[in-house]
Amino acid sequence: MIQRFVIGKPFPTESVVLDLPAETGPVPYLTPDGDGWQYVMQEKDIVYGLGEMPRGLNKRGWHYETNNTDESEHGENRLSYYAAHNFLLISPADGSGCIGIFVDFPGKVSYDIGYTRHDTLRFATAEPNYALCLITAPAAAEVAKEFRQLIGPSYIPPKWAFGLAQSRFGYKTEADIREVAAQYKANGLPLDMICLDIDYMQSYADFTIDKARFPDLGKLAAGLKAEGIRLVPIIDAGIRCDDNDPVCREGLEKGYFCTKEDGTPFVAAVWPGKAYFTDFLRPDARAWFGRQYKVLTDLGIEGFWNDMNEPALFYSPERLKAFFEKAAALSRKDNLDQNDFFGLVRSVMGLMNAPEDYRSFYHDTAAGRVRHDRVHNLYGGCMTRAAGEAFQTLRPGQRTLLYCRSSSIGAHRWGGIWLGDNHSSWSQLLANIQMMPAVQMCGFLYSGADLCGFSEDTTPDLALRWLEFGLFTPLMRNHADAESREQEFYRFTDVLPAIRNMLDLRYALLPYLYSEFMKAALEDAPYFRPLAFDYPADPDAREVDDQLLLGEGLMVAPVHTQNAHGRTVYLPEGMKMLRLRSVSDYDEEVLPAGRHYLPCELGEVLLFIRPGHTVPVAQPAANTALLDDTALTFWRFAPDGRPAPYRMYADDGVTTDHNRPEHWRIVGQ
Ligand code: GLC
Repeated sequence: MIQRFVIGKPFPTESVVLDLPAETGPVPYLTPDGDGWQYVMQEKDIVYGLGEMPRGLNKRGWHYETNNTDESEHGENRLSYYAAHNFLLISPADGSGCIGIFVDFPGKVSYDIGYTRHDTLRFATAEPNYALCLITAPAAAEVAKEFRQLIGPSYIPPKWAFGLAQSRFGYKTEADIREVAAQYKANGLPLDMICLDIDYMQSYADFTIDKARFPDLGKLAAGLKAEGIRLVPIIDAGIRCDDNDPVCREGLEKGYFCTKEDGTPFVAAVWPGKAYFTDFLRPDARAWFGRQYKVLTDLGIEGFWNDMNEPALFYSPERLKAFFEKAAALSRKDNLDQNDFFGLVRSVMGLMNAPEDYRSFYHDTAAGRVRHDRVHNLYGGCMTRAAGEAFQTLRPGQRTLLYCRSSSIGAHRWGGIWLGDNHSSWSQLLANIQMMPAVQMCGFLYSGADLCGFSEDTTPDLALRWLEFGLFTPLMRNHADAESREQEFYRFTDVLPAIRNMLDLRYALLPYLYSEFMKAALEDAPYFRPLAFDYPADPDAREVDDQLLLGEGLMVAPVHTQNAHGRTVYLPEGMKMLRLRSVSDYDEEVLPAGRHYLPCELGEVLLFIRPGHTVPVAQPAANTALLDDTALTFWRFAPDGRPAPYRMYADDGVTTDHNRPEHWRIVGQ
């Protein structure tokens, strides 16, 4: 059951698709608490949710803030990342029924989930104008499903977007791109996408191409596509301030950019230096920005990533000037004390993403002129929507790949997400595992983290272990910062055979992974989920937060610690374990329910088949186009001897005509 309560006069976020009447009675389960609400938790209640956020599957014991931030320091003590996923799912241990809470509010929401008081969950919005949706159902899985129905169907990418993507900030020329493609091929590693970071642009300006470094992008795209590889360029939120740039000029002339209080365009610096920010909350400005992608779709580009759309702000000219004045004053002192010195350091760091800047510009929406900070969390998602809406016209009937950095619930209908600038560290691999079910609960099915880690230097074992999990995530992209060690998979010569086997395993499993993704997208089924969703009465399953159920028939238990030769795995029921070194080289063993220490060397993956299930397996291929999903073998676990056929989804993978009954086949009978 879903109930919607309206508090004050909410801004129309367009996050939900069900048109529910506002309830008039009191809000059940929650007690008003100052400017927010509270819920008293029993000792073993679990609180899932919040999507892209730090910490484990169970959010208890910390405080959070949905305040979309370009956060480069990922770690358990952060309060917010790039996304506002204001959904909580409370699963009481006594089986008394689960509660979903969606706070439909475009500004900052703060959550204290047992941080101040161990037994108290409290949340509050920055202002008293919002809608509160409460979902109640006997089981967590049902709450999650009803929530997905409330927020509407998830974005579906083309099938090739389930292949491997290789990316790096710093592929500067066409030759760099060709080298990546050639190395993948020479090393016998599959590849479907190479992402173009801002290096392909002229002076980092959106919708431009640096002709000196990429003389014929269309030809490059066509040539690579003939080899099964798509080019996926980046688009940033800010439009470079440049009177000679036609996009910038038109945006200014037509007034599509966000403005300051005095009506002049707001300016802040990002990658290209000073930039304007399209008012994505306005349909006409969205349509204008969306049309600009045409310069790239006309060259045969079929996919994009949208970045910096919190929006990230490096500095505003006003605050930079104030900082220089402060620094100049201090420079006249010949001995800075620690207050002066650290004050200066804080001031320079404080230039980035400054709350004052977010309070200094406005959007002209159908609901009136509104100061940015009050609707901040909608901005990134509205950029996603600008692109998604445009692709319907630019590429009618075709699926266009789109994944973005900043998001809020609602944007999941237009694109996927990646989990931002993580680090090459083992704790970030665990964070990737734990965030996946949480973001998917919020509709962001097409999602994944930068494999091997974005910043800092990865190691061959981290790269391989990360791939051993990443091979199950819908978006499987290796991406790195310009400063970090080169980490294309072919660089790790020491472990190359194992890397090849793991990539092959991904492609071999695509009939299953793609079918499960389509079930999730078309039927609001779960893809990744915590064990307790399917085994709610099992107290041990409720404690597990580094194993995930994957689709109908599989469970994964990735190794996420360095130098480990295995790990402890909890089985809520008897399952068949496959210890896979490759798609054709594995041990199998039927294990009883309970806790097991299972050896798992570097280059091995533990995969568990649930009783009664069949998994279709294809032959590995060099790219998704070459994958033959008619020549399948099957991995099964049928303890009671009954055949367990599999409902598989197979279509052309590129058109938007997804919902045809003939796309479903029963295989493995
Ligand atoms: C941001 C993105 C990152 C990208 C970089 C340069 O930090 O999150 O993925 O490589 O900008 O465009």
